[in-house]
Amino acid sequence: MLPVSFALTSPDAAAAVVVFYDEDKTLIADPLLDAAAQGIVGDVLRHDDFKGTLGKTATYKVTLNTKPITVVVAGIGKAVDLTPLSLQKIGASIITALQSGQDAAAVVAPLDVGGSVEHAANDLAAGALLKGYRFDKYITKERPDVKKPKLSSLTFLVKDKKAADVCFEKTSAFVRAVYLARTLQNEPSNLLNPETYAEKIKEVFAKLPVSVKVLGEKEMKKLGMGALLGVGQGSAVESQLVVMEYRGAKTQDAPIALVGKGVTFDTGGISIKPAANMEDMKWDMGGSAVVVATLQMLAEQKSPAHVVGVVGLVENMPSGTAQRPGDIVTSMSGQTIEVLNTDAEGRLVLSDALWYAQETFRPKTVIDFATLTGAIVVALGDLTAGLFSNNDKLAEALYAASKEANEPIWRFPMNEEYDKDMNSPIADMRNIGSGRGAGSITAAQFLQRFIQKDVAWAHIDIAGVTASKNGKELAPKGATGFGVHLMERFFATYPLS
Ligand code: BES
Ligand code: MG
Ligand code: ZN
Repeated sequence: MLPVSFALTSPDAAAAVVVFYDEDKTLIADPLLDAAAQGIVGDVLRHDDFKGTLGKTATYKVTLNTKPITVVVAGIGKAVDLTPLSLQKIGASIITALQSGQDAAAVVAPLDVGGSVEHAANDLAAGALLKGYRFDKYITKERPDVKKPKLSSLTFLVKDKKAADVCFEKTSAFVRAVYLARTLQNEPSNLLNPETYAEKIKEVFAKLPVSVKVLGEKEMKKLGMGALLGVGQGSAVESQLVVMEYRGAKTQDAPIALVGKGVTFDTGGISIKPAANMEDMKWDMGGSAVVVATLQMLAEQKSPAHVVGVVGLVENMPSGTAQRPGDIVTSMSGQTIEVLNTDAEGRLVLSDALWYAQETFRPKTVIDFATLTGAIVVALGDLTAGLFSNNDKLAEALYAASKEANEPIWRFPMNEEYDKDMNSPIADMRNIGSGRGAGSITAAQFLQRFIQKDVAWAHIDIAGVTASKNGKELAPKGATGFGVHLMERFFATYPLS
């Protein structure tokens, strides 16, 4: 993570300064630039068509005290309209400008808006770090087309350094969580398989107050997890169930359970997928990464919440030992499933993970994250995730959090008519619908059959949003970590009984 700091005055090393310009043509630069430099920048701006639009930047080279410096002018729209989210977007525009430049150290002018300079600086920093994430660990050579940014530090000017630093403890825990989710998601499936992933999770929590229990195939067999095990039986690598628990101050409360789909690679199994774009199926563990990252964040932030995480880590492969279309498996809940399509495997993994979470921890609230259906990509594209829930209060809380997080979710209907479509004539249910459309809803109906009485449950289908081809406002291209920001806002605002 790029080193970020807060300071009262500009560090001498800074070769680039960032100033702000709002739509009313006010240059917010003081005290970084002396009057002469301000004059130059102001002059350039007057002759430029730069309008101060939020998210736009312009870069100038000026001379300050005989030293050449880079000035990045960041548009902020109307200063009075700024929100935490728009500040994050400005932070993102700043990092994009700075990373394309040659300067190592940059300093950002104070922006005195809304709450406080310190909070504004934290939001700017969060946006810069979220957008500034890079996954370049496997690039071993200098290449003109993949430039490593020169930028090596970012300093934000504030009035109260202590307050900004304290606030940054929470901000940076959140950013680290997004980075963790993205890195887990971006890892290729030869290096991140169910076994190496389980080890990695143990490492993540080695120094945090989160207990980690890993169940291998033998233990899961004992528990009767035939649905999850069926998916992994074609793989050379053993399936794993990783169970995490964080007990914040509200440890007496029933926990909130987070459950994640962790298919480290989804070939489709015997119902094999077409070759084109199959590499995207390394992202099929995206939901589990959100769960792991959220637990890391809550522990680092010392959240008062009591939260458990359960992730089913499985590789869906075709082979001589793989399950066949038509197989009937018995889930931990005792319900039997006719597996008509081995590519509808996420719901099989989740059915046992959900049941295990409820049997073991008796949560009142369960939220699952899964790259579950191609149908959700058809419906919502890569901008919005699907929300399915049996509880209006929970759905509304998630919706409110999603707005604050700029991670849009949209609720879909569920009812008995859709549910009926999952009945099988020879087992309790089948794992695909009849083919009359609504594939994301029937998948959710399947999951709901594994939700116990009086449990408030939400399922978030992140198949379309987990990775981005072109990058987003607050994410570079590749894995987005979608869901972590949503959980950050959810736990910051949801009444924990
Ligand atoms: N991993 C896929 C869902 C997916 C599709 C994620 C596209 C990301 C992008 C899932 O396991 C799957 O293959 N679902 C099938 C279900 C169908 C066979 C009922 C699908 O959506 O096609
Ligand atoms: Mg095996
Ligand atoms: Zn699949």
